[in-house]
Amino acid sequence: MEKILVIGAAGQLGSELTKSLSDIYGGDRVIATDLNESARSKFDYCQFEVLDIMDQAKAKELIQKENVKQVYHLAAVLSATGEQKPLFAWNLNMDSLLFVLEMAREFKMEKVYWPSSIAVFGPNTPKINTPQYCVKEPNTVYGISKQAGERWCEYYFQKYGVDVRSLRYPGLIGYKSLPGGGTTDYAVDIYHKVLAGEKFSCFLREDSSLPMMYMPDAIKATLDLMHAPAESVKIRSSYNLAGMSFTPKDIYESILKYHPSFEIEYNPDFRQGIADSWPDSVDDSCARADWGWKPDFGLDEMTKDILENLPNYSF
Ligand SMILES: NC(=O)c1ccc[n+]([C@@H]2O[C@H](COP(=O)([O-])OP(=O)(O)OC[C@H]3O[C@@H](n4cnc5c(N)ncnc54)[C@H](O)[C@@H]3O)[C@@H](O)[C@H]2O)c1
Repeated sequence: MEKILVIGAAGQLGSELTKSLSDIYGGDRVIATDLNESARSKFDYCQFEVLDIMDQAKAKELIQKENVKQVYHLAAVLSATGEQKPLFAWNLNMDSLLFVLEMAREFKMEKVYWPSSIAVFGPNTPKINTPQYCVKEPNTVYGISKQAGERWCEYYFQKYGVDVRSLRYPGLIGYKSLPGGGTTDYAVDIYHKVLAGEKFSCFLREDSSLPMMYMPDAIKATLDLMHAPAESVKIRSSYNLAGMSFTPKDIYESILKYHPSFEIEYNPDFRQGIADSWPDSVDDSCARADWGWKPDFGLDEMTKDILENLPNYSF
């Protein structure tokens, strides 16, 4: 049986994407992997293996033994954590991608998915409606690794015909897992504080606008891209992808509609500098034209959905 391998499956994106893949292909075709045994309990619907993707011998053995034909490579050190451990972030983000691309070439895999990020942009990028093609001078190690990764993806497609596909996600907001050390984490944490009845301390300024996306839209975009005919996928570095753009003040005001006594204070830290280097909004017309991308959720729809569902969700 041909299998689909998800690397870094227990994270914010993987927890939801792995379930969707299992629903589509069947749990017996999906192998969820992550660093720790403790993640196993999340994956009672599919196969789970402990795997550090830096252990390339073990990863290669698994790929061969299980006849892996598709990889979703989600493991990475994210933007805020990357600034604390730059060389570790670079090594993990780059070595693991190059390894996955090599495996795809060697074993003639069908497809590879690897997420990029709006972090590929930098302070000299146009901030409003950032185009697909423009100046990119990222100033975080995370952004540099994503930009280099995009170049490698395109290289493997052009040189070796590896069918690798990628999206530049904006900040992802979901309620089914906790965020993993990014600059947009505040927009997840804020909903937990509302429901705990606590005041929220925001690490960004109230007017700091960033591109964001509700997780169901991110899953839809990922699967739509991966299911598109190869000839429709015209960009092999990574597609701009937009859902909504908002500031901390906007999300606070959206929450006030349901919890009028909720309080917020703004205490910007080093993550403000990262946010300032990223776009306010992104032009995703190539994704719309090439494979029909269209988001479903705006800010108020997302707030309503999270506030209704988060209280019933256990971690
Ligand atoms: N969350 C966002 O807002 C966002 C935005 C843009 C792009 N992305 C990208 O999407 C991907 C997934 O992001 P996420 O938010 O789910 O991150 P996350 O930090 O929540 O999850 C990453 C997972 O990878 C695992 N991992 C880390 N090192 C590993 C290793 N050596 N071997 C195996 N697994 C390892 C972690 O244990 C974790 O479960 C990343 O590539 C990230 O750069 C995320």
